[in-house]
This record gives sequence, C-alpha cells and structure tokens, in this order.
Amino acid sequence: MNNKGIDRQTLEELEQTAVRELGEASDIGAIEELRVKYLGRKGSLTLSLRSIGSLPAGERPAMGNLINEIKGKLSGIYSARLEEISANIGDPEPFPGDHALPGRVFSQGGLHVLTRVTRDIKEIFFRMGYSLAEGPDVELDYYNFEALNFPEDHPSRDSQDTFYVNRDILLRTQTSPVQVRYMEKNDPPLRIISPGRVYRNETPDPSHAAEFHQIEGLYVDRNVSLADLRNDVTFFIHSFFGPDVKVRFRPHFFPFTEPSAEVDMECFGCRGEGCSICQKTGWIEIMGAGMVHPNVFKYAGYDPDSVTGFAFGMGIDRIAMLKYGIDDIRRFLANDIRFLGQFWSGSWAGVQD
Ligand code: DAH
Repeated sequence: MNNKGIDRQTLEELEQTAVRELGEASDIGAIEELRVKYLGRKGSLTLSLRSIGSLPAGERPAMGNLINEIKGKLSGIYSARLEEISANIGDPEPFPGDHALPGRVFSQGGLHVLTRVTRDIKEIFFRMGYSLAEGPDVELDYYNFEALNFPEDHPSRDSQDTFYVNRDILLRTQTSPVQVRYMEKNDPPLRIISPGRVYRNETPDPSHAAEFHQIEGLYVDRNVSLADLRNDVTFFIHSFFGPDVKVRFRPHFFPFTEPSAEVDMECFGCRGEGCSICQKTGWIEIMGAGMVHPNVFKYAGYDPDSVTGFAFGMGIDRIAMLKYGIDDIRRFLANDIRFLGQFWSGSWAGVQD
C-alpha cells in the first residue's frame, strides 16, 4: 500500500476482505499466512500505520485510531480461528478399535545358537590374553595333515572321512591347520584361538554331521608346560560350565601333540553319579589337547629346542549340545525357526538382544 492510498474506504475494504479470508481459512498454515499478510511486521495494517505521517496533521489521530481498531478486531478473529482449528486437530474422530489390543510384533530374528556359543567361548579366551586367528575352509592336504605330523597312511586321511577336492586340496577336517599357518607367519610367543567350520564325510546321525564347528587353541612360548595347558583349559571349563565342575586329563593320541590327552569334565546331568548323558560314566569328553609335537614346530619353521607350546581343540556343536541339552546335532543346520528361536532373548517372536 503506498502512502497516498491510505484513506478510510480502502481501510474498510481491507478489513472486510481480511475478515472473510480469516473466516474461510481452514488450517493452521492458512491462518498463519493471513496473520503475516495483515498483522505481520510487513503486513498491510502495519504499513498503513507507518504511512500516517504523510497525512495532514489533523487527520492523523482519527486514522490512527481506525487502523488500531481494525488491527485489534482482526487479531481477535485470528486468535479465535486459531483456537478453533487447533481444537479440531486435537480432537479427532473417536478411535473405533480396541485401545487395549497389543500392537503387532515383528520378529527381528536373533543370533544362531552356535554363533552365541562361539562368542561366549571366544570371550573367555580373550580374557586370558588369546587373540583370534582364522584359516580357510578349503585347505591344502599339507596343512590339514602333513604339517600336523599325520603319517602318510593315517586312517583319517582316508577318503571315507575327508572330502577331497583333488589330491592336494580338501575341505579341512579340523581347525588344527590354522596352527601351522599362523606359526609360519608369526614369531613366538603367541596365544591364539581359531574357531571355524570343519567337514567330514560322515553318515549323519544325532551325534554326527558332515559339517560342524571346532575351536582350536595354541599357546607357544619358552617353557610352556602341561601345567599351563591344564590351567587354561580348566579356567575355560569353569568359566563356561560352572566353577565347581571337576576336570580330568586322560592320556590319548594325536599325531600333532606329544604327550596328548583327552579332557573330560564331570557330567552336569548327574554330577558324576552316572546317567544317560554321560553313558553312566560320570564324565563327559570335552576336548582334545596336548603339547605341540616337535615335528609340527619344524614344519612351521620354529626351533623345537627353544620353544614349547600346547594346543587344544573342541567341537562347538558338541559344547552347545551339552550346555543346552540339545539331542541332535543336525538341528543346528536345519534352519527350523522353532528350534533356533528358543535361543533368542525374549520370546522367539520378540526382539533380538
Ligand atoms: N583336531 C582334533 C580333532 O579334530 C582335536 C584336537 C586334539 C586339536 C588335540 C588339538 C589338539 O589342537 O591338541 O579331533
């Protein structure tokens, strides 16, 4: 509005238009626009007030009063409309459904029980200062057998047990090959664990699968002894299964350790009395272990006269079965969500940990 245009009639027309527009505005955005248009800092009425100075002095008070009057009126209408519109927003149609009905729950899944058990085992060994090492599933015969001191004619090299890709390449039957691979690339002292998948040409039954999981441990330094092995293995078993569980070492044979042992723990089903879990022996075999054979050190490029070490290996599936009372190893890979969901935190249709 220019200075010359300010007169009573123009103002009254402006008022009418504004009142009509405010009445028609139906949402907060529109109301706000009108406030800016008429009442804002650069709105029509504010500009009118400012231009009063250009009128003859005698007309100024009356015109000023009129503008203020219109301003007051429009402000009142604006506030009332705003309140009306806001009130409508705040009070929608009553909800027709049942307020108490629980919302739909979407399953987010959870970790596979073997992933969890593996993490728990790793966690315990990390606390003891072990670090993680990994090796390939498709392995050379050299690392899986030869460098682990398996004689050429050892029965586990038989194609009955091993999936061969060709004469030199196979699917690893154990995680032990990671020992030699790691020692080749790293100098002692070292302390590693190595979890992973292993493969054997087994006929599947409740305790055998062609694909399962192991975790390997290796500790090499000067003067590592059988007592150190016993200490770390016992610490693991106590941390994982409980502090009072008895542990025993039984002499055994593995080509890559000397002496070798199988480690048993007291049966948690019967506490050593003898039950169906432990086949009435009171003990459960939990891992193989031993002092690293000098030949393995030689294959790895270490001097067996200056270092000693221990190694151990256990089946992760078996440990999970023992811990959770699972009756069939084949369940782990069957992808039945009713089975897997039992190990997710909360309900199986619920939320992941
Ligand atoms: N690799 C062995 C197996 O699959 C388990 C094992 C035994 C690993 C003794 C070791 C060990 O490191 O020292 O039966």
